[in-house]
Amino acid sequence: MPINRLAMTIYKIKNLGDSMVKISPSVLTSDFLTLGDSIKKLEDAGVDMLHLDVMDGIFVPNISFGLPVIKSIKAHTKLPLDVHLMIDRPHRYIEEFAKYADLLGFHYEAGSDNEETLRKIRELGCKSCITIKPATAAEEIFPLLPLCDMVLVMSVEPGFGGQKFMPVALDKIKAIKVECERQGLSVDIEVDGGINAQTAPLAVAAGANVLVAGNYLFSADDMSARVKEIKNL
Ligand code: DX5
Ligand code: ZN
Repeated sequence: MPINRLAMTIYKIKNLGDSMVKISPSVLTSDFLTLGDSIKKLEDAGVDMLHLDVMDGIFVPNISFGLPVIKSIKAHTKLPLDVHLMIDRPHRYIEEFAKYADLLGFHYEAGSDNEETLRKIRELGCKSCITIKPATAAEEIFPLLPLCDMVLVMSVEPGFGGQKFMPVALDKIKAIKVECERQGLSVDIEVDGGINAQTAPLAVAAGANVLVAGNYLFSADDMSARVKEIKNL
């Protein structure tokens, strides 16, 4: 094959890989009594991981679940666990959550030494993720990108499921994508909050490749049809 065509083929394959969108369902609005069944349905529907929202009632005005629940979920599924810590000074608990998380994310605004915490997450064998709230500028995390496997851009105020998507997230996703390319980094960009069939294509067009969806899936009669709908958009 001529070298130019070979280069073009490699380019296309690489971009095909890059453009694959992953779905990370948030179980926050599920019925916890039947969580095991819901996880089984999500596995069958072909989701890529599970998004687990940990809230402490301090960093966000809500309390969700913590280590014992995540430990049980880990024992129940082979899906990678994408843990989203919405807790104050998260460095205090990184070691504990790293026992069960595959991807461990925490908030830029939560009062930890962000660099050190990202390093520690990787040292503990997890993929690292920094998360920003809607009011935080994308540029603030640019120096941290080399330490991140993923960046999570919030498209709602963290704390509750079922809120409306905030379009301010789109420009931030674009800016982070451009900056990752400028720094020559391959970092996943996840978007969280208000994702549905209307907002998912906007987030993907902006550069997100991991979509969190909670209420849109768990409010549906046929959750698996909704997973496929978003995946095939
Ligand atoms: C909000 C959480 C989200 C939320 C997403 O603080 O981080 O993961 O559960 O749920 P929906 O898709 O309902 O906005
Ligand atoms: Zn979340």
